[in-house]
Amino acid sequence: MSAPALSAHSLRKVIGTRTIVDDVSFDLMPGEVFGFLGPNGAGKTTTIRMLVGLIRPTSGTIAICGYDIRREFERAMRCIGCIVESPDLYRFMTGRENLEHFARMLGVPAAEIPRVAGLVDLAHRLDQRVGTYSLGMRQRLGIAQALLGKPKVLILDEPANGLDPAGIREIRELLRNLAATESLAVFVSSHLLGEIELMCDRVAIIHKGRILRAGSVGELISSQRAMELHVGDVARAENVLRDRNVAFTQENGRLFLPIEETDAPPILAALFEAGVPLYAAKPRVQTLEEMFLDATGGETVG
Ligand SMILES: Nc1ncnc2c1ncn2[C@@H]1O[C@H](COP(=O)(O)OP(=O)(O)OP(=O)(O)O)[C@@H](O)[C@H]1O
Ligand SMILES: [Mg+2]
Repeated sequence: MSAPALSAHSLRKVIGTRTIVDDVSFDLMPGEVFGFLGPNGAGKTTTIRMLVGLIRPTSGTIAICGYDIRREFERAMRCIGCIVESPDLYRFMTGRENLEHFARMLGVPAAEIPRVAGLVDLAHRLDQRVGTYSLGMRQRLGIAQALLGKPKVLILDEPANGLDPAGIREIRELLRNLAATESLAVFVSSHLLGEIELMCDRVAIIHKGRILRAGSVGELISSQRAMELHVGDVARAENVLRDRNVAFTQENGRLFLPIEETDAPPILAALFEAGVPLYAAKPRVQTLEEMFLDATGGETVG
């Protein structure tokens, strides 16, 4: 197992009397796309601003490529490429001129420009003015700019915001590709669940400044397995389950048991013996969306 590219431990940010980010910890591994999913105001941008050194955590530690940002700020920052909110681009200049300008500021050789333009598939439009670019192309140019210093970690705040489905797919494929081919650790925030589900290897769900759940998309879904029973006599079925100390919830006459399919037969047999008409028993896999609603107490995301 390689070392984390970025490691955040017990991050907290208090502004005035409000705790905006509370005890946030996670590791970001090389080659993975990590999603930070949460509704508006959850604390995503505040967390990102701490990661990229724009604001100081009230407490907690951040290490990037092993460099603690308090002790070795410059070295840590050299490992990061980021876009916080929207990329800083000059619309009256061409894509190439924008990249040249940022390369000069970073002290990066101009030879890097064709490399990053190729990575984001913009080489063919590089000599046109940014004002003529679509939002998706501007986002890709922003990513090219963030890649100029050959970072190990790419941090993007809501990279798909405002993009149409084709633009979202392009960004998704680009980020997955960068993680795989460049071994980049990619951190993306979003309030769009479908996007995170398709783009990320792992996800942390943040709500009111706290991480509610974290894990691989697959793990989060499988941790939510349940059996759904459709029975003819709900009251009698509930009594049978209570007698056997089987946990359950009931919604609209359907019973949900937090068990695996393989644990179902003795329970189904007991219901059958008690004369409960059994219409259907099927495993239910909660989607990430249902899980999110569950975890956040019903406050919706896009
Ligand atoms: N400088 C600040 N002073 C006071 N409150 C702040 C400050 N910055 C952020 N907040 C508050 O902290 C909370 C989290 O804000 P943040 O911008 O991190 O959320 P977010 O998850 O990025 O939301 P969005 O999806 O809207 O971008 C919000 O309630 C916001 O109003
Ligand atoms: Mg934000």
